[in-house]
Amino acid sequence: MTAVAVVGLGAMGSRIARRLLDAGNDVVVWNRDPSKAHELVSAGAVAATSPADAARRADAVITMVSNPEALDAVVGGPEGIAAGADTGTTVIQMSTVGSEATAKLASALPEGTGLLDAPVLGSLSEVESATLTVFLGGPDELVRAWEPLLATLGTVLHVGGVGAGSAAKLVANATLVGTITLLGESIALADRLGLSRDVAFDVLAATPLAAQAERRRPAIESDDFPRRFALSLARKDADLIRTAAPDLRVVEAAREWFLQAEQAGGGDDDYSAVLKEILN
Ligand SMILES: NC(=O)c1ccc[n+]([C@@H]2O[C@H](COP(=O)([O-])OP(=O)(O)OC[C@H]3O[C@@H](n4cnc5c(N)ncnc54)[C@H](OP(=O)(O)O)[C@@H]3O)[C@@H](O)[C@H]2O)c1
Repeated sequence: MTAVAVVGLGAMGSRIARRLLDAGNDVVVWNRDPSKAHELVSAGAVAATSPADAARRADAVITMVSNPEALDAVVGGPEGIAAGADTGTTVIQMSTVGSEATAKLASALPEGTGLLDAPVLGSLSEVESATLTVFLGGPDELVRAWEPLLATLGTVLHVGGVGAGSAAKLVANATLVGTITLLGESIALADRLGLSRDVAFDVLAATPLAAQAERRRPAIESDDFPRRFALSLARKDADLIRTAAPDLRVVEAAREWFLQAEQAGGGDDDYSAVLKEILN
């Protein structure tokens, strides 16, 4: 049986580990806060004592942590993944960290270690229903070897070499942060022009934002934005897009809304709560 380690058991990593366990894999887990491993260990996973230990125990090591700094923290140092990986290991990097951090990861791993770049589109319910989209970057041979495992999480799109997965994910998230802030501004405009919210939603239903407006309407009307994807992580993604393409203006305007909402104390809210900031 294939042994897969999952390093980073936050909202996404814990569910990915659970899904891989349910699919019959041997699963090794590690998290900075070890209490997040308990439920998975009860379900049959093995707790590693460090990211290096996780790498030694597994054929593939999935990383699913917050940001580039967190990835550095689990890869480097005497207890990091690089210290435990060898030519028999494939690291499957699934966090959203951008292309620079992916290149840095590639250079931090020992010679001959396999590396796949595999960030995902979709959130908590999409992991649970195995309907994520996995943007996979890497050499054909490794893609062939690990695509079946990743296919247990959803649809795998092989988008190019290592780094292309991270690039694809930033493209996808440019649409995410841009769309939700444009929705907020469109409703704000309707408010300023004196249209009722019902009329505003009728108008939006006839526009390219129809699906997004329908999806967000209950949260806007109840002022309840259940957390799936932290607002601080969406701001981090907008930062990564800015680093990759500083001249883009719409995403930069969206980034400013997220930053403002975060500075107002909303970093731990769901990213869609940026609508509250725009509409207040
Ligand atoms: N949530 C979503 O809908 C979604 C969807 C697609 C992609 N993503 C991306 O997936 C990644 C994870 O997101 P998430 O929602 O699972 O985030 P999360 O719930 O906040 O989990 C973050 C994980 O990173 C770990 N971490 C943070 N800083 C660390 C450090 N310095 N050293 C070691 N571990 C560290 C945390 O460990 P502790 O538990 O010890 O804090 C936790 O395991 C992010 O890159 C995010 O952008 C998220």
